[in-house]
Amino acid sequence: MTAPRVWIIGASAGIGAALARAWAARGADLVLSARDGAALDALAAECGGARVLPLDLAQPETLAAACAELRGAAPFDVIACTAALYDPGRVADLDPERVEAMVRVNLLGTLAVARLCPPLIRDGGQLVLFGSVAGYLGLPGGQPYSATKAAVNNLAESLAVELAPRVNVRLVCPGFVATRLTAKNRFAMPAILTPDQAAEAVLRGLAGRAFEIHFPRRFTLAIKLLRLLPYALSLRLLRRLG
Ligand SMILES: NC(=O)c1ccc[n+]([C@@H]2O[C@H](COP(=O)([O-])OP(=O)(O)OC[C@H]3O[C@@H](n4cnc5c(N)ncnc54)[C@H](OP(=O)(O)O)[C@@H]3O)[C@@H](O)[C@H]2O)c1
Repeated sequence: MTAPRVWIIGASAGIGAALARAWAARGADLVLSARDGAALDALAAECGGARVLPLDLAQPETLAAACAELRGAAPFDVIACTAALYDPGRVADLDPERVEAMVRVNLLGTLAVARLCPPLIRDGGQLVLFGSVAGYLGLPGGQPYSATKAAVNNLAESLAVELAPRVNVRLVCPGFVATRLTAKNRFAMPAILTPDQAAEAVLRGLAGRAFEIHFPRRFTLAIKLLRLLPYALSLRLLRRLG
């Protein structure tokens, strides 16, 4: 894809910021959103100019306001939502407020994007949702995050059929990527990628036709295989790992 018009929601850090840089290097016309306006301004300058529209996905009215500002402008080739929150830990130690925030941003926020953003995408353009391998099956220590990501994986499947052929819905399921999100993990993360490697994998996937973009395959295929096993086996293996 050459010089597309792209809106990244969740652009201020991690994979979203790396995607912004990678798209900017390809001459993309970018709109950058997240909560941290100062980080977005710095990234926009780094990208050689981009429109910055701060918003909080936990407050869908701020997404609706951003959509209203963008209505009337040129339609997007791609709208990608990378925004998410993650708090690992044991279930008994969960902070209910943090759990609610994760559900609000990861699930309800993605649903708000699915509800409000398609009219801003050109015919045949892409709506890119970020699920996770953590949504393939519940991983120990990641309960609400895994559950919201399973929901996003499922939501993307629904939308891929419902919005086709006008909008081309894609699901991105990364393995481990070294960002502030995974910096919270207290275990060795196998096959971990840099955000730049992840961004390149996403762009390669978006240039192809597959609904799901998952990487690195040496890791994601192993988890897909685990998911296919009978629970008696997969849960025993997970117990050993976790
Ligand atoms: N890193 C991994 O290993 C990994 C693996 C599988 C899936 N993923 C998925 O990949 C995506 C990107 O993850 P990442 O590792 O790049 O995370 P990250 O570094 O923590 O970045 C998350 C982005 O989401 C934004 N965000 C968070 N809450 C928001 C809110 N309420 N409203 C608007 N924006 C919000 C953050 O910006 P502000 O704080 O400025 O709002 C930030 O730009 C996520 O969907 C994650 O679940 C990541």
